[in-house]
Amino acid sequence: MKKRVLVASNRGPVSYQFGPDGTLTGRRGGGGLVAGVAEGLAATAPEAEVAWICAALSDADRAVARQRPGDTLGPDDIPVRMLDIPPDVFDRAYNNVANSILWFVQHMLFDTPNQPRFGREFRQDWAAYLAYNEAFAAAMADEAAGSASSAGVRALIQDYHLSLAPRLLRDKLGGGDADLGIAHFSHTPWAPPDYYRMLPAEVGEAVLDGMLGADHVGFHADRWAAAFLDCCAAILGARVSRDGNGYGSVGQVVHRGHVSEVAVHPLGVDAPALRARAGADDVRAHATVLGQAAAGRKLIVRVDRTELSKNIVRGLDAYRELLATRPEWHGRVVHLAFAYPSRSTVPEYRAYTERVRQVAAEITAEFGTPDWNPLVLEVKDDYPRSLAACTVADVLLVNPVRDGMNLVAQEGPVLSERGCALVLSRDAGAAATLHGDALLVNPYDVSETAAALHRALAMPDAERRRRSDALAATAAASPPARWFGDQLAALDR
Ligand code: G6P
Repeated sequence: MKKRVLVASNRGPVSYQFGPDGTLTGRRGGGGLVAGVAEGLAATAPEAEVAWICAALSDADRAVARQRPGDTLGPDDIPVRMLDIPPDVFDRAYNNVANSILWFVQHMLFDTPNQPRFGREFRQDWAAYLAYNEAFAAAMADEAAGSASSAGVRALIQDYHLSLAPRLLRDKLGGGDADLGIAHFSHTPWAPPDYYRMLPAEVGEAVLDGMLGADHVGFHADRWAAAFLDCCAAILGARVSRDGNGYGSVGQVVHRGHVSEVAVHPLGVDAPALRARAGADDVRAHATVLGQAAAGRKLIVRVDRTELSKNIVRGLDAYRELLATRPEWHGRVVHLAFAYPSRSTVPEYRAYTERVRQVAAEITAEFGTPDWNPLVLEVKDDYPRSLAACTVADVLLVNPVRDGMNLVAQEGPVLSERGCALVLSRDAGAAATLHGDALLVNPYDVSETAAALHRALAMPDAERRRRSDALAATAAASPPARWFGDQLAALDR
């Protein structure tokens, strides 16, 4: 008898588009969460009865959800159930609560003299967020009930969109002696109590209480797990202990008579699969073009969603300061900045995108010459080209103000052909594992970042190669299958 393993996340592994003739075509969903879960779930599939529950994100997704409820297939033939949540409910839950409030709290992004502001409108948004979480909990309960298996149910619920779902699911399924295991995983950082308390009291409490409906509450790094434990103690008054207990555990929270294990599972990369992908013709072709365009100059690469937390503007400012203070690099370096569209329904993201374009244009105007373009900003999402840039980079710049983990910092060294130096924010979760071989910077300190870029560019080849190999080995040591399998093993215990 196989176990039933359910994954729930807002963004699923497949998204649909309407063609000009109205036909629907599916494409792989993007982002680190999706890639990690897809590989983890595929590795589990032979021993379990798996399903992935996600939201329909567009009209095309909704059309698929209506035509074929419950039987879309994702990569590796994983059954995908897309939820057709009413557009207004989805919009309020995803844009207004998850992305504009919870994401901002965990990444500490608020411009606090002006934002946030919690009034009546927010209470309506919050009701929608609850309804959205209810829809996921109901679908998971339904999937669990519809399963042929009685060997137990494991639900792995992802991220800040679904913080209430673990409690809601436990309320539906947790009675009797059901073999039910629920895990929640945050792909974001976690804010310290003083910042977290900005949320209205009932909301801050509901988020923690919701997550503590899980048996296993996971984070990418110790810092975020520790801050979560601090919030449980300070805001809920829950009983918190900080003893590791195996399986990544760093502590326990006892709340409403239930024990939740709090654990750290860093998510790295599937290095062999990534290298195989980078060997494909489309990536090789891009690498050739990028190499020719660089014409022997050093390449500083960054690849991000255009996301406030990624700190792209300060990164560009640091490059500008490098060129202003170290004229020896003029004509000898090019910065390839890939900043792909993201969450453009949120006004702050649109304004930030404009600012990125503006600063990039200023740098080109200030330093460019007829035969040297110091900066190439690309805003059109192109996955093969991003992989290609990582293969040829001399320096990789990853400087988020805060980041749950950061996949690019790990993919870059794995893909690098000649070895790349990594300039990395100390406030990325990945710094916990990569700190020994990266050049760590304070993400707010533009001068320090400029100095680190100089050091990275000037690094002797042998040292760059050695550091890059060590970074790649660290990234490869926590592949998605392990990240996923460790959480399942913890639930089975
Ligand atoms: C982060 C979050 C994910 C999210 C991704 C892309 O990695 O942790 O949950 O899916 O960003 O954001 P989006 O809003 O486009 O899904």
